[in-house]
Amino acid sequence: MSCQYYLLFLVLCGFAALSVSTETCGKDLLEGTSCIIKLTTRNNQKPSEIKWVHDTHGVSEGVSMEEDGSLKFSSVSLKDTGKYTFNAYNDAGAEIGKGEVEIKVYEKAPKPAVKFSCTKDGNATLKCYIGEREDLTLSWYKEDKMIQNENKPQVFLSSTQVQENKPYSCEAHNPVSSNKSESVTVSCFEKHISKNKFGIWISIVVICLVFILLFLFIPPLHGSCAARCERQKTSRK
Ligand SMILES: *[C@@H]1O[C@H](CO)[C@@H](O)[C@H](O)[C@H]1NC(C)=O
Ligand SMILES: *[C@@H]1O[C@H](CO)[C@@H](O)[C@H](O)[C@H]1NC(C)=O
Repeated sequence: MSCQYYLLFLVLCGFAALSVSTETCGKDLLEGTSCIIKLTTRNNQKPSEIKWVHDTHGVSEGVSMEEDGSLKFSSVSLKDTGKYTFNAYNDAGAEIGKGEVEIKVYEKAPKPAVKFSCTKDGNATLKCYIGEREDLTLSWYKEDKMIQNENKPQVFLSSTQVQENKPYSCEAHNPVSSNKSESVTVSCFEKHISKNKFGIWISIVVICLVFILLFLFIPPLHGSCAARCERQKTSRK
């Protein structure tokens, strides 16, 4: 047991060490990652002139050039997405290397929210909200199993499926991150009935109170007032 923990510790340390040293940029990157695009030359010759171009313009300011001419991103941002090309020349002005690397930077996936609405006959529609993000794709889960071929923002549930009382959740993902919503259990029927029942009971109670007021309170009050008025009238005479 303790040996396993020791191994796990070593593996974790290895990962930590790896993530600290700057790696070569992959194709898909999470915003904030630091990485390097390597410059390579024929026979590793030392270039005396280097040209880096990002898409059609120069390289942005937050990016620095290493001693060997490689491009270093200390923290990639969305605007760093695109194609990077380099040309390297020697003293004589002859080209000794060129290359092209494309990167795409993604934001972290936000946590989606799931909401549902019911029809009168107890069917339901689940909706997954992720905001205005075109880089994200969706998956739906019923309990902890992914529902195959459901990647639209809406899922339809028949009343039979609703009555199973199973939790649903959706997951937003792009190539570098994913995030899952809280689970939602749809309950159409209960909500409907209990709301209606509550309304009916309230109405019954209110109507009863009105009747009680009308038939029990008001006639005696009226009677006693009338009697008092009559007395006042007679005493004034
Ligand atoms: C999911 O998104 C929330 C906020 O949108 C964030 O705080 C959380 O760290 C994310 N989780 C993962 C695993 O990326
Ligand atoms: C509810 O679902 C059933 C079966 O899936 C369907 O026949 C019916 O038309 C649906 N009702 C509504 C209001 O969508």
